[in-house]
Amino acid sequence: MFDFKYYTPTKVVFGRNTEARVAELIREFGGSRVLIHYGGGSVVRSGLLKKVTDTLDKAGIPYVTLGGAVPNPRLSLVYKGIELCKKEGVDFLLAVGGGSAIDSAKAIGYGVTNEGDVWDFYDYKRKATACLPLGVILTLAATGSEMSDSSVITKEEGWIKRGYSSDFARAKFAIMNPELTMSLPDYQTACGCADIMMHTMERYFTNGGNMEITDSMAEGLLRTVMTNAEILVKDPKNYDARAEVMWAGSLSHNGLTGCGNDGGDWMTHKMEHELGGLYDVAHGAGLAAIWGSWARYVYRDCLPRFRRFAVNVMGVEPVGTDEEIALRGIEAMEDFYRRIHMPTNLRELGVNPTEAEFADMAHKCAVGVNGAKGSAKLLHEADMLAIYKASM
Ligand code: NZQ
Ligand code: ZN
Repeated sequence: MFDFKYYTPTKVVFGRNTEARVAELIREFGGSRVLIHYGGGSVVRSGLLKKVTDTLDKAGIPYVTLGGAVPNPRLSLVYKGIELCKKEGVDFLLAVGGGSAIDSAKAIGYGVTNEGDVWDFYDYKRKATACLPLGVILTLAATGSEMSDSSVITKEEGWIKRGYSSDFARAKFAIMNPELTMSLPDYQTACGCADIMMHTMERYFTNGGNMEITDSMAEGLLRTVMTNAEILVKDPKNYDARAEVMWAGSLSHNGLTGCGNDGGDWMTHKMEHELGGLYDVAHGAGLAAIWGSWARYVYRDCLPRFRRFAVNVMGVEPVGTDEEIALRGIEAMEDFYRRIHMPTNLRELGVNPTEAEFADMAHKCAVGVNGAKGSAKLLHEADMLAIYKASM
C-alpha cells in the first residue's frame, strides 16, 4: 500500500432541480462577475442556459456568455475566453455542459490568472500557480471533470491533444441533476459509461500497490455502472439509473478509486487522446475501441489484477488457468461494450489510419508520456504502435 493524498474540495449539490441554486452557490464562493461557458448549443436547445441566466438576472449577478466548446475542446476558443474574461473583469467561471465545456473553462481560468501562453501548461513547459474559481452545472456524466484536477485541450496546429492537471482547477461546486442528462443521444450516454468505467479501470490495472477498500469500491463502482448502462440502453429516462451513473462518474475520477496504489496505468487514455486529436472521435468510444487490444497486449504482465477483474467484476467462473480466466474477463468486457453499442476496434469506431498515421500517433503518444508509461506493463513507442495496429 502506498501513501496517498486525497483532495476533493468540490461541493456537490445533487438531485432534481438543483440548478436553481446556482446563484446562491456562485455567491457562496465569492463570484461577482461570471463567464458562463458552454458547448455547441445543447444547453440552449434544452432551455437550461435560459434558466441559468434568468436565475443570475434575478439574483443581480452580472455575467457574459461564451458558447462553442466542441468535443475535444480547442485552444483557439480558450484564447478567446481568456481575452473576454480580462476585458469584462470576470472573477468566476461557470461551465454548463459536459467535459469539453468544463475543460475549456479550466484552461480559460489558467490563462486569466497566469502570465504567458496557457498552452505551456499542456505542453509540460511550466506549472500553473492559480486558476479562476470554477463552478459546474453538469449535463453529461462521463469525464468526471466536475471533480477532477484535470483538463484536456486540443491545439489545432498539429492536432495535439494534451491534458494538464493541478488542484487549482478543481471546481468549487458541482451541480448534478441526473434529469439534465436525459436529453443526451444514446450514443453519448454509452460513451459516458465507457469513460467512467475506464477512469476506475486505469487505476485498477496496476502492478504498484493495492488497498483492499479501494479495490472493493472500484469493483462495486464498475459493476454498478455496467448494470445501469444496460438499463439506460432500454430505458434512457430512468432517473435512478441516470443518478447512479452520474455519481459514479464523479467518484471514478476524483481520486477515490486510486487511493493506496501507484496512480494506475493510464495508457488507454493516453493512446485515445491521440485518436481524439487526429480523428475527433468521442472520447469514451475511442477508449472502448482500443481497450481490448491494450488488455490483450499487457494482461500477462498484470495477471493477478486481470484475473481478479474477470471474477469480481465480469462474473467469470474461476475455472481454468489464470490466463484463461483473465482472457475470458477481457472477452466479457468487450461483450458488454457491444451490448451498449460501443465499438471494440478502430473499424467499428469508424477510423482507418494509414501506416504513417499509426506511426504518427504512436510517436506523439510516446512524446506525450516522456518516452514510456504504464503500470500494468510499461509501454514504449513500439508497443504503442503494436497496440494501435492490433485494434484495427
Ligand atoms: O456541445 P453540446 O451542444 O453541449 O453537445 C454535447 C456534445 O456534442 C453533447 N451534450 C452534452 N450534454 C448534453 C448533450 N447533448 C444533449 N443533452 C445533454 N444533456 O454531448 C456531446 C459531447 O459532449 P462533451 O462535453 O464533449 O463530452 P464529454 O463530457 O465526454 O467530454 C469529452 C472531453 O473531455 C475530455 C475528453 O478527452 C474530451 O476532450 N476528458 C476530460 C477529463 C477531465 N477533465 O478530467 C478526463 C477524461 O478522461 C477525458 O479525457
Ligand atoms: Zn476519460
